[in-house]
Amino acid sequence: MANPVTGFSKKTKEEKIQWLVENYLPNNPTAISTLKQYWNSDRKIQKLHDDFIENTITNYLLPFGIAPNFLINEQLYTLPMVIEESSVVAAASNAAKFWLKRGGFKTEVISTQKNGQVHINFFGNSQDITTFFSEVKPQLIESIDAIQKNMRNRGGGLIDIELINSTAKLDGYYQLHCTFETLDAMGANFINSCLETIAKTFELLAKGHVAFEQSNFRPEVVMSILSNFVPECLVRAEVSCPVSELSNGKIDGATFANKFVRAVQIAQMEPRRAVTHNKGIMNGIDAVILATGNDFRAVEAGVHAYASQTGNYTSLTQASIEDDVFRFWIEIPLALGTVGGLTSLHPMTKLAFELLQKPNAKQLMQIVAVAGLAQNFAALRSLVTVGIQKGHMKMHLMNILNQLNTSAEEQEKTTSHFKNNEVSHSAVVSFVEELRKLE
Ligand code: MEV
Repeated sequence: MANPVTGFSKKTKEEKIQWLVENYLPNNPTAISTLKQYWNSDRKIQKLHDDFIENTITNYLLPFGIAPNFLINEQLYTLPMVIEESSVVAAASNAAKFWLKRGGFKTEVISTQKNGQVHINFFGNSQDITTFFSEVKPQLIESIDAIQKNMRNRGGGLIDIELINSTAKLDGYYQLHCTFETLDAMGANFINSCLETIAKTFELLAKGHVAFEQSNFRPEVVMSILSNFVPECLVRAEVSCPVSELSNGKIDGATFANKFVRAVQIAQMEPRRAVTHNKGIMNGIDAVILATGNDFRAVEAGVHAYASQTGNYTSLTQASIEDDVFRFWIEIPLALGTVGGLTSLHPMTKLAFELLQKPNAKQLMQIVAVAGLAQNFAALRSLVTVGIQKGHMKMHLMNILNQLNTSAEEQEKTTSHFKNNEVSHSAVVSFVEELRKLE
């Protein structure tokens, strides 16, 4: 049993590793070298990574892949994707290639408002807090003048503050619901700084307010924080083509389109399917978000809340066939940034932005929405035709071969054999065993 440790963050990296190995990895003789093999030999780069978080002891590598041929609003993009799942980049590339010949992706930003709340307790007369709020609203806005000066100059900033009476949901619960335009910044720090200042000003002004003094009920701030639920920061991406253009020789266009639309309808009404359907969408979305240094947890939380807005968890995509035209689209909330945070710090993120031709936040929203739609298209296309495992296992083959510590020669023989044979874990193991018997 390891002992609790004090002052851990003050220890050097070597001391932290020593402590870790002594306490938790005593039977692993290669632990230290495993950790150190991922240290970057460039001290500046390593220092950058050390400083991202507390207690960095090494780096964790993930593949950075690219998916070319994305035609988005008549412009060609190559998407950077950071992901560990074997088939995701291949699926994205396939979908991009498919739609390249059919007009590409059309996208549109619907809205870009973000929001945050000051959460308040008030158990007095609701008229008192309503009157107080309308009196002090200009001062609340004024209190963030300094914080929003630059953002205002660029055309963004606080849009409005509303007092929301939520006492029907929770006794004594009110909110100052604040809406913001944060332009190219994801805006978390900006919004939180604004909210905390508004909250302080609100409490300060409430102290001398007559109605509160007389009733002995004064509002109290519980907390102030942005919301990752951003249904007013919406983007839409769509593909469409005549149904006849969907045929691929093995399946005719109408059969494919009908099955595809049915698959989407199933995800719309059956939450168990919707979760997996949306997970596939997030394969594409998260990969581009990670590559561009954005906050995938924020996006995940916001997207799934949006998918359950009606009270039933449902599909993020929709599909239709009208007048022999197949249409497939996604509408999702994405609060993204192209400035601030990791975007200008991480060398790979900087490169990702460069390869995307330096998009602004609105353009990035559109690119990311396309990544989600493309991923979902690829998954459903496989699911309603050949099944998902064929492509998955083909891409997973190298992982199995690496697990089995195969040599280059064994890998070549095995991949060549499985070009025309179905890949399964056991089939690959047996094939490699047979090869080794012959060696
Ligand atoms: C796997 O990562 C994603 C899929 O399960 C998505 C789907 O079922 O639509 C293939």
